[in-house]
This record gives sequence, C-alpha cells and structure tokens, in this order.
Amino acid sequence: MLSRRAFLSGALVIGRIGGALAGEPLRTAAAGCGRMFGCAISSRHLGERDFIGLVLRECGGIVPEGEGKWASLRPGPDNFNFAPLDRLVSFTRERGMAIRGHTLLWQDALPNWLKRALSETPGQAESILLRHIDTVVRRYDGVIDSWDVVNEVLGPDGLQPGPWVDALGIEAIAIAFGAARTASPSARLILNETAIESGLRAHAERRHALLALLNRLKSRGVPVDGVGIQAHLRCSEPIDQAALRGFLSEVAGMGLDILVTELDVNDAEVFGDPKRRDQVVADHAQRFLDVILDETAVKSIHCWGLSDRHSWLHHHPAGWRADGARTRPLPFDADLAVKPLASALAQAFAGARVRP
Ligand code: XIL
Repeated sequence: MLSRRAFLSGALVIGRIGGALAGEPLRTAAAGCGRMFGCAISSRHLGERDFIGLVLRECGGIVPEGEGKWASLRPGPDNFNFAPLDRLVSFTRERGMAIRGHTLLWQDALPNWLKRALSETPGQAESILLRHIDTVVRRYDGVIDSWDVVNEVLGPDGLQPGPWVDALGIEAIAIAFGAARTASPSARLILNETAIESGLRAHAERRHALLALLNRLKSRGVPVDGVGIQAHLRCSEPIDQAALRGFLSEVAGMGLDILVTELDVNDAEVFGDPKRRDQVVADHAQRFLDVILDETAVKSIHCWGLSDRHSWLHHHPAGWRADGARTRPLPFDADLAVKPLASALAQAFAGARVRP
C-alpha cells in the first residue's frame, strides 16, 4: 500500500514541514492518516481558558486523568460520585469530541473501604466489581466509546499482584470484560498495559506475557477488542523497534485494535538545556512513532496531558530529575508553545501508513 510519506514526497512541499502542514492541529494531522489524536485532562483544569483552548485546537478526544477511577467514583460502598466525570462528559458533548473511559480494574487509585473489603471478604469481590462496572459503564453507554477495562494487570512474572488479582485471580479480567460488554455493547473494550516498548528485559517479558494472556482470553471468548499501549516512554530506555514491530503485528493478527493511550516522554535522565532535552525527547518519540504508525491496526494516540504545565511526572518519583528541574514530557511547553515533540507527532502522522 502507498504510505502517506511516499504520497506526500511527490506532493507540493510549499507550506509543509517534513510532510506536515505548518501550524496544522495534531487532530487534523492524525485524521489525515485515519487516526485520532487526543490527550488526558483533569476536570480541575476545565476553567483554565488558555490551556483548554489548546486542547480544543489540538485534540479530537480526551480521556479523564482520574475521574473514571474508583478513588474518584466511589467515596463509599453504597455511593457513586459521578460529578467530576459528568463535567468532562458534558465538556466533550458540547464540543463534539470523543471521550474514552479509564479505568475499571486497576490495583491503584482504589478507595480504602474497597481495599479493606477485598482483603477481608474476598468472596464479595465479584459482586462488588460487577455492580461497579454495570453502574458506571451503563451510565455512559453511547457516550464513552472506548474503555480501558483492565489496566496494568501484568507484572514482571505473570499477573501483577494487587487487591483484585489477589481476590479473584485471572477471573477478575474475564469478569470485568464480560460486565463491560453487557453494560455497553457498542463500547470498544481495551486491555491497557505499560512498559512494552523498550529493549529492557522486563519489557520483553511483558510483551511475551501480554501475547500469551491475549491468546488465553480470546480462546475463552472474553470480549477484548483491543490493546492499549500506555507508552510512558523514557529517553534512557531505547525503543526496540524490531521487537515492537513484531509485537504490533502479532496483536493485529489476532484481529485486535491497538491504541496508544498515555504517551509522554520522560527526560529525567537527559542532561543539558531545555532546547537539547526537547530535541532528545522528540527523537526518542520519533523512533517509537515511526513503528507505531506503520501499523494500520493502530487507531489512536492519546498523550497523558498536552502541555508541560500539567504532567503527572512532576508529582511522581519516576519524573524527578537530579538537577531539580521539571521534566518536559509533553508536546507543548508550560507556556503552551509548540515543542519538537509536537512536530515529531505531526511528521509521524504525515508519514504514517494510512488506515483503510
Ligand atoms: C496518574 C495520574 O496522572 C495522576 O494524576 C494520579 O495521581 C496517578 O495516576 N498509568 C495510568 C494512569 O494508567 O492512570 C496514571 O495516571 C499514570 C500511569
């Protein structure tokens, strides 16, 4: 198939930077190759006019950074707090944007009452999980078009221990997907996983374990529609392009969608001034994106944030630098100016294999 890069190389170059239209929003560049571009936002930032203006300009969709997690939705065993997620849903509805859901089964961001219940009365785990998923996913049926049903379920060797897996074992995954399918038959149901893109041994093991898990779930008829690649990239961990390519083609061969769900590029170990660091970040992302966007099963790319003004890595030890400076992991800087990472994304979309 003719790639967009090959097509564009024969096209007029005036007004284009490396194949991407200068000043073109990322969502438009993504749409050009049949993909969607979006980002995670927090309802706390909805009132920030300049930042939200940038989100509206660049993104075709969003994903709630914390509002879809148990810790936000479930203040108590008998209460649901939908207000923060509803705010994000109304925001997208008014503007015709898409919204993904994140996340129904994860070992983090669990309220204390739930952790206690799962360890003290594991026999109730299934009914607690079923009720949560049925209530939440049904409420947003037809609105949230894609859910990270299960998040980070794989550890270095097999399933990642955590309250759900300890209580229910691998059944937790099957229960969660089954309940989500019943509650919203049209939503795409995603198994979201981290740390699979580099040459590190732990990443190779997780790729292997993930393929085995997907095969097992598919053979049992568990309704998994796709795989989410979080893509919290780290400049100190080189991308294994050949292994990533092979992994993507195996997943695609199973008939599954592939989504990049949480892209950011951690420069905690990159020395130098911001200009140099931003270029290293962009080059690192480029090596990832070139492979990712050569695979037509990849439907969307969401960054975990959009501007360096708001990044979870500023509050997480993984993002802390020895020199005390803030990490610069996102496509726009803290003043919302475009960074080389945004250009890398635009170029990767321009050079992508077009989705049929
Ligand atoms: C992070 C949020 O960005 C933070 O605000 C929160 O404090 C912790 O969680 N992988 C995931 C996301 O799947 O849900 C995490 O989000 C980042 C890592």
